[in-house]
This record gives sequence, C-alpha cells and structure tokens, in this order.
Amino acid sequence: MTRSIDVDDRAAIRRLAPSGPLRGELHVPGDKSISHRALICNALASGEARVSNLLDSADCRSTMACLEQWGVAFQRDGDDLLVRSPGQARFRRTTSVLDCGNSGTSMRLLAGVAAGLPFASRFDGDDSLRRRPMDRVLRPLARMGAQVDGADGATRAPFVVSGEHGLSNGFSGELAVASAQVKSCIMLAALRANRSSRIIEPGPTRDHTERMLTAMGAEIEVDGAEIRIQPGSELHPRDVDVAGDISAAAFWIIAAAIVPGSELRLPNVGVNHRRTGVLDVLRNMGAQIELSNPRDISGEPVADITVRGSALHGTVIDGDLIVRALDELPALAVAAACADGVTEIRDAAELRVKESDRIATTSAMLAAMGQDPELPVRVEERADGMSIVGGQLRGAAVQSFGDHRLAMAAAVASLAARGETEVQGAEAVAISYPEFWTHLDQVRDGAVV
Ligand code: S3P
Repeated sequence: MTRSIDVDDRAAIRRLAPSGPLRGELHVPGDKSISHRALICNALASGEARVSNLLDSADCRSTMACLEQWGVAFQRDGDDLLVRSPGQARFRRTTSVLDCGNSGTSMRLLAGVAAGLPFASRFDGDDSLRRRPMDRVLRPLARMGAQVDGADGATRAPFVVSGEHGLSNGFSGELAVASAQVKSCIMLAALRANRSSRIIEPGPTRDHTERMLTAMGAEIEVDGAEIRIQPGSELHPRDVDVAGDISAAAFWIIAAAIVPGSELRLPNVGVNHRRTGVLDVLRNMGAQIELSNPRDISGEPVADITVRGSALHGTVIDGDLIVRALDELPALAVAAACADGVTEIRDAAELRVKESDRIATTSAMLAAMGQDPELPVRVEERADGMSIVGGQLRGAAVQSFGDHRLAMAAAVASLAARGETEVQGAEAVAISYPEFWTHLDQVRDGAVV
C-alpha cells in the first residue's frame, strides 16, 4: 500500500500529499444524529433494543456515559450494541456531572430528557461546548415548568435542569432558531409534560427524532412545519440499524468531485431529504453524483452513492439549503475554492456557534491554502457566511481549531492542493469519524473498506 500520509501521532499532526484520482468503495460509519437518537430514545423505553452500525465515536460515547449515570446499561454484542433501560420513569438520580464532552447533541437532547425527571441533573462539557449557546434550550424548558440554572445567566454550560415540580406547560410556538437539537430537546421534554405541545419550525431541520419516537409509539403528528405532541404514551424499545452518515460521506463526495478522474462508490448512505442539501449544492455546481438502490432502513431512506470527478462552478448557498447542508458547509467551502467563479454562502450565522466559529475557521483555512500567486483563492468573511472565489489551492500548515469537521475539510482540500498540507489538531476527527485517516489512506489506493 502506498502511504502518502506522514503521521506524527504525539503532536496529532498529519502531513498530506496531494492525491491522484480517488477510486473504489468506502463504507462510511453510522450516522451521528441517528446514533445519538437510537441511544437516547431507547433509553426512555423500558426493555432492551439492539442497535446495529452505531457510530462509535467520542460524541456518541458522551451520550452513553451520561445515560449510564441515570441507570441505562449498554452491552456490546459482536458489532451491535444492546441498550437495556429501566425506562425514563425509573431513572436514578445522580449527583455526578453529566459530562457531554464536545457534543452539543448530547447536551441539548439530554437536557430535554432531564426536564422530565423528578430530580436535578447537572451538565457540563469541554471548553468548546461551554462557549456554545444553551439558552436556546434552557429558556423553553423553563417556560414548560423545568427549573434551570447555569453559567452566564443560564445561557451556557455548566447548567442544571430539574423537572422535580413537573412540567405544567406544553411548548407552543415557533422556535427562535432552525435547530434540530432545540426541536428534539423540546420534543423529549414534551413527552413528559402535563399538556400537549405544538412546535413550529422556522426551517426544515433533520427529523430523525420525529421518525424514531413515532415508531416507538409516541403520539406525534407532523403537519408541514408544525409538530404536535401528546404526552403520556408508553414508548417501546426499537431495534435500529443506523444508516451511513451523509455528513461523513460528504467529505468523500467532495474529495472525489474535486480530484479529476476520481470515481468513488459509497454504499448505504442515509439520504433523508432534510440532510441531502450537500448533494443539491454539489449538483448545482456541476458535480456528477448518482444515487442507486434506494431503500428504507429503520424508517430512514438510504441509497448507494456514486460520485465522479468533474469541473465545478460557483453557486449560491442560502435559505433552506443552509439548514439542509449545515454540517457540510466547511467541506462545501473547499469545493467552492476548487470551483470556477464565485460561491456565496448566506443565511449561515449558525455556523458561528458550532464546535468552532466555522465561518472564521473555514475562512482561515482557505486563506492559508489560497496563496497561489497565479490563481489565488479569495475568501471574504461575512456576518452570516462567506464569499469564495475559486482558484488553485496550495499546501500550507492549517489548524483544525479542535473542530472535527475542519480537520476533515482541510484533509479534503489537501487532495487537490499543490504541495504538502499539514493538518494540526488532526485528532479532532475522533468526535464523529475515528476511522477517517485510515479511510483516507485506503481510498487513495482504491481499496474496499
Ligand atoms: C444535530 C443538529 C445540528 C447539527 C449537529 C447535529 C442533531 O445542530 O449541526 O451536528 O443531531 O440534531 P443544530 O440543531 O444546533 O443546528
């Protein structure tokens, strides 16, 4: 095998050479969002469920560690994970902190679960998670009747949520921000409220929670942008086969799209319409992407994706497309840097409150790699997005800023760059895609993994 990647594990630095055509087949890991929900929703029900193809990453382990403190048990069975729960009504009080690490999904969804428990739960996370806004979940939970307190006037972690006086109100109204984490938090609390809830979404965020809870017996009605929830139904454990993660696949789709002559096949990728903005954007840019063998796995649409390298041109990414391609925007910015002409990313202020400020960090990465004297890549940062003029990327030393998606976007950029790229903070990929560097090595060789 030709290893074109030089590794300095102690310093977590990856030195990456440009790549020839990417070829072969790659099985991406299980979807992060669906994995969190398979763990959390099954923990609410009493009994046992089997989860297959669960994403085994740092973020999902954070969710598991928190649920264990409430009395949920996990057992590996071959490649599967068994979730055994006494049910939410029998969760035990814990005085330890629920440490969500780097995971916003763990913190926000579990805060909704905590609101339905008759005792206080204390949450905390790493430095990145402590900087992220939590008032977006704590405020609605308080309005529903939960007791909340936390840092900076209950706007950030560490915080405490308690449902010891019950949730006397349902939620009613439009969410302040198009966020699946906020929506899911409120839905999980709404299951334990004394009244029904009505949630209106300002944008089409991922609907994995609605799908999974409905399949488990919750009374949830979805009518366009409105979700109505009746509390009190008994939830039944449900085996889940987790679809491949389109947010992980996106790195390979973009890598193959920007390296001429590439042809990659990605079997078994989740293609829920609310997650496929990345495919729409790339097709708008001229990418050749084919979906085949469409099917349903555990209530989620799945397909095999084939992508071939082709010339790309600039585009506009805004509105609902931003919501449907949110986590893919750093990698899409790399595609824009390799495309002909201008790409405008607008309506994406949410990127500023992700694992890093992804408008600033993505711009910094592209600026560092955009210094070709003849064909520079020009990046302009905007309050709610960026403007990128495509050119020729050049290898440079770039940082992940501790953000998994930045590390992977930089690696994708290196494939189409001239010269060597050094990714600092490469260990961040463990958050959502621990096998990323191995897969990168293998796909360069066109091997099946
Ligand atoms: C997620 C929702 C999104 C996304 C995150 C996962 C989820 O966050 O960025 O990676 O699983 O619900 P927001 O809801 O904060 O937009």
